[in-house]
Amino acid sequence: MAKIKVPAPPVPDQLKPKPKRPGKTYGPQTPVEHGAEAGASTVGWIDERTSLSGGARWMMFRKVPKGTNWFYTLGSATMFAFLSQAVTGVFLAMYYDPAPKGAYESIRHINDDVFLGELVHGMHKWGSSVMVVLIFLHMGRTFFFGAYKYPRELNWVIGVVLLILTMTMSFTGYLLPFDQRSYWASIVGVNINGTGPLVGPYLNDFLRAGPYFGATTLSRFYSIHMLLVPGAIAALMGFHLYLVARLGTTAPPWLKPKTAEALREEEVAA
Ligand code: HEM
Repeated sequence: MAKIKVPAPPVPDQLKPKPKRPGKTYGPQTPVEHGAEAGASTVGWIDERTSLSGGARWMMFRKVPKGTNWFYTLGSATMFAFLSQAVTGVFLAMYYDPAPKGAYESIRHINDDVFLGELVHGMHKWGSSVMVVLIFLHMGRTFFFGAYKYPRELNWVIGVVLLILTMTMSFTGYLLPFDQRSYWASIVGVNINGTGPLVGPYLNDFLRAGPYFGATTLSRFYSIHMLLVPGAIAALMGFHLYLVARLGTTAPPWLKPKTAEALREEEVAA
């Protein structure tokens, strides 16, 4: 059945823009127009001095292959999870005390006394699992779509490093509440690392910050968790996205490229 298109209701006269008088110059009038003008001129001021808009346009306005679907949003979803972790992490760091005597108490304080503390802590705790799930789904998508093949091998390798760094975030973050569970689970984790060939014992000493698990271990985990690894993830993510923009994304494997003959026929028909 053919759909009937209902015409849009007419705009009331009061809402219509006033006709402009010829020969008179008009600036922004409403607060919204003033805001838009201020925003545009600030962006213009920065762009005139940096020419950054060219790079932003190159990054954002790209052609994507036919058949691009929801699975292609998993990378951006992982990035969003990381950003959420970074923002909630900054607020947690304002109250967290990385000392064996203060750590548990500071987390209790965040949960019970600080305004919205339990929400922010919960977002950070559950967000870590969300990021791990998303990164695996994204990796699965790129694997099954064959996106690791030429010329995107380097982006796959960078992805593997991002995966290891994300797991390092989960591992080092787990110790921070410093309760019985996190303490003993981290000892098991560090011991497992120690069984690795050649580098195992060195890795063990590095993670423990010495031969024993103690106060310095907690500060070492904290510094790895909130400075070293997030910095590396942010830098590598930037490079990962640069390569995505540079190389474009892979078409879904079920779309076969058209033959030269079919393309020519399409051109003639158009
Ligand atoms: C912090 C983690 C990561 C972030 C934020 C991230 C982000 C992204 C984004 C936004 C894209 C473009 C859109 C898309 O295909 O989803 C992408 C593409 C890609 N990613 Fe990731 N990624 C991450 C981890 C990984 C991992 C673990 C791998 C594999 C080991 C990987 C391999 C790739 C590849 C090969 C592409 C190109 C896809 C194509 O050409 O179709 N990424 N990534």
